[in-house]
Amino acid sequence: LRICGESRKRQLKEPPLVMGWLPFFGVMLDYIKDPLGFLQATQRQHGDIFTCKIAGKYFTFVTDPFSFSAIMRQGKNLDFQKFAMHFSQRVFGHADFSGPLLSESYREIHALFQQTLQGPPLQQLTEVMLGNLQAVLGRSLPSGGRWKEEGLQSFTNRIMFEAGYLTLFGKEERLLPVERAAQVAATCMMKAERDFMVFDRAFPVLAGGVPIALCMRAWRAREALTEELVQSKLYQRLCISDLIQRRMDAFNRMHLDETGTARTHVCMLWASQANTLPAAFWSLYYTLRHPEALTAACAEVDRVLKESNQSSYDHDQPISFSKEQLESMTVLDSIIKEALRLSSASMMIRVASDNFAFTLDSGQTAVIRKGDYIALYPQLIHLDPEIYPNPTEFKYDRFLDEAGHVRTEFFKGGRLLKHCLIPFGSGASKCPGRYFAMNEIKQFLLLVLCRCELHLVDSAAVPVPDSTRAGLGILPPSCDVPIQYRARAAWRGE
Ligand code: HEM
Repeated sequence: LRICGESRKRQLKEPPLVMGWLPFFGVMLDYIKDPLGFLQATQRQHGDIFTCKIAGKYFTFVTDPFSFSAIMRQGKNLDFQKFAMHFSQRVFGHADFSGPLLSESYREIHALFQQTLQGPPLQQLTEVMLGNLQAVLGRSLPSGGRWKEEGLQSFTNRIMFEAGYLTLFGKEERLLPVERAAQVAATCMMKAERDFMVFDRAFPVLAGGVPIALCMRAWRAREALTEELVQSKLYQRLCISDLIQRRMDAFNRMHLDETGTARTHVCMLWASQANTLPAAFWSLYYTLRHPEALTAACAEVDRVLKESNQSSYDHDQPISFSKEQLESMTVLDSIIKEALRLSSASMMIRVASDNFAFTLDSGQTAVIRKGDYIALYPQLIHLDPEIYPNPTEFKYDRFLDEAGHVRTEFFKGGRLLKHCLIPFGSGASKCPGRYFAMNEIKQFLLLVLCRCELHLVDSAAVPVPDSTRAGLGILPPSCDVPIQYRARAAWRGE
C-alpha cells in the first residue's frame, strides 16, 4: 500500500488517503483479492477511518463499531436511496423511480415493506411459508424408506426457493388433471430456480459495473424470470402475498409498462432469496457438522412438538407452530445467528450528498467530500476476536445466555456494543425482510429435523464461504457437500 496524492490531495481533517499504485483502479486489485484481509491490514495501518481509491471512486471505510451510530445519524448528508435505486435499475432494468414523476409514488411502494413484512401480515406470511415448506419437502422425500443422495446446497436451494417463491408470488392455477398440473408446476419451478441461479451467479460482475447486455446468459435468465412475473400472469395466480398484491396495485396506478413492472418483481424475488438460500444452507450445514448443535436443536424441536402434542413422523399430519413457540426456539435462533455471523459479508454504502464533518467515537473529527462513498463493513465486527473469541469457530450457543435465553449483549474493550451482529444492515437500508428471513430459516431447520433422517456423507468435504461475492451479502459455500436423506420413520430414540 502507498499513500500518495496522484489526483487528489488529503485535506485537513480528511481521513488518510490510500491511493494504491494503479492510476485509475487504485487499490481495487488488493481489495478484490481479499476484501476482509485488505481492510484489516489497512485498519491496522491507518486506524478507524480511511479513504480508499477503488475504480476511480473514493470509499471512506469506517471500521470502529462505536462510530456506526454517528454515521447512521448523518441521514441528511448521506444518501442511500439514490445509490441503491441507480444500482438496482442498472442490474434489474426496471423503471427509474428517482425521477420527479415517480419518486413520490415510489415512497408509497417502499413503505409497503414495513406494512407487509412486520406485525400481523408477517404472521400470515410465516404460516403460508410453513405450509409451502411442508408441501415441497414432503414431495422431495423418497418413499418406502429409501435413501436419496444429493448435495446439501442443491437440497436447500430447491426447497427454500420453491417455498419462498410460492409464498410471495402465489400458486399458478392450471386447468389440468391434478397429477399433470403438479408435473407442469414442478417443471416450471425447476426452470425458475435454474434461471435465478444463472442470474445470481453473474451478480458480482453486474455489481462491479459490467452492463448486463454483455452477460448474455444472465440477461436471458433475468428476462425468463421477468416473463413469468408479468401482471397478466400474476393475476392468474392464487394466494399472492399482501406485499406483492399491493405492489401490483400501486404499479397499476403509476401506469408502468408490463415489462418494467415485472422486472421490479424480479428485484423483489432476488432480495427475498439471494441471501436466504446461503443462510439456510450454512444453518443446516453447521447443525449437521456439530453433534452438540444437532443434539441441542433436536431436543428443542422435540420439546415444542411434545408441548403441542404433535408427531414428527406422521407425514400426513401437517405440523403447525404458534408465533410464541417459534420465538421460544432460542437454540435454533442462536444457530442461525452464528451461521449468519460466519457467512455474512455485506457492505453498507452511502453517498455523501454534501461536504460535511462528523465526529467519531474517539472524538476525532472527519471531513467527508461531496460525492464520496461511506462504507461500513460488518464482517470486521463479526470476526473481531475481541468481540467473539475464536471468531472463525462455529459455536452453536454463542447467542444464548446461561439461562438459555437469547443473548444480545456483546462487548469490545469492556464497552457494550450497540451494533454487534448486522447481517441485515442498519439504519436507512436495514433489511425489511429480516423477521421473515429468520422465521423461514427456523421453519426450514425445524421441518428438516422433524421429517428427515439426514447426514453428511463425506466428512472430508469442508466448504468455506466463497469470498468472490464479498460485499453482496451472505456468502454461498465454495463447494456443495453430499448428503443422504430419507423420510423419518420415528423420532430420535423412539
Ligand atoms: C435489503 C440482508 C432476506 C427483502 C437488505 C440489506 C441487507 C439484507 C444487508 C441492505 C442492503 C444495502 O444496504 O444495500 C438480508 C439477509 C437476508 C435477507 C441476510 C436473509 C438471511 C430478505 C427477505 C426479504 C428481503 C426474505 C423479503 C421477503 C429486502 C428488501 C431490501 C433488503 C426489499 C431493500 C430495502 C430497501 O430498499 O430499503 N437485505 N436480507 N430480505 N432486503 Fe433483505
